[in-house]
Amino acid sequence: MKTQLLIPAAGMGTRLGAGGPKALVDLAGRPMLVRTLEQLAPLGLTAQAVILAPAGHVADFEAVLASHFAADAPTVIEGGAERQESVARGLDRLDPDTDIVAIHDAARPFVHPDTVQAAIDAAARYGAATVAIPSADTILVADPEDFLIETPDRSRLWACQTPQVFQVAVLREAHAQARESGYLGTDDATLACRTGHRVKLVPGTALNFKITTPADLALACCVVEKGLASCA
Ligand code: CTP
Ligand code: MG
Repeated sequence: MKTQLLIPAAGMGTRLGAGGPKALVDLAGRPMLVRTLEQLAPLGLTAQAVILAPAGHVADFEAVLASHFAADAPTVIEGGAERQESVARGLDRLDPDTDIVAIHDAARPFVHPDTVQAAIDAAARYGAATVAIPSADTILVADPEDFLIETPDRSRLWACQTPQVFQVAVLREAHAQARESGYLGTDDATLACRTGHRVKLVPGTALNFKITTPADLALACCVVEKGLASCA
């Protein structure tokens, strides 16, 4: 089955406070997006990947990718104001004969290629899959004034990661229904679940964390400098 990578990278990193596209922030000597694509290189899907860049930054992204990947540089297109819109735009740009789409955040540079392959295999079998990890923390539900109202059973709670992988028809239907109902989510597996599709959870690793805050970026630099990325 033909598989394409779709990389949402159109965020501006408000919580990181980088003052520009988060995906181009320096991560121990190379842009975060370049590190993420290098980590995915063993899958052999880079040249056909579709990267979503912030409006006004497509040319910057193309230049960065051309200098690191030359002829294997992936396609860059303009993303949307929300992650869901970025993914929808990427979905419109997949090759017509693509069967499986693997969506992986640019902000998770330490995903293990074996994890991606396991998610691709699960999506081929079940239609939809997301990488996630069983929650180590007890999760609290609060009311609007930050008072505890509920503590769900931790044994059934997973923290969502990427990649999220889908048979293309499943993801198209999920996005069409979300658009029709005006639903805006922060991930795509939830959209598929809302349309009634089963979504298989594939175990990820702690190193597949998302770089969101300055502390995450500092931790990510340590991971690179200590050579831990291959342990992901
Ligand atoms: N993303 C995207 N399009 C958007 C918003 C986010 O493609 N309109 C991507 C980001 O580039 C990132 C992933 O979705 O790779 C997860 O988003 P997040 O970590 O929230 O990144 P930012 O939106 O950049 O950060 P913040 O919310 O702090 O501004
Ligand atoms: Mg965001």
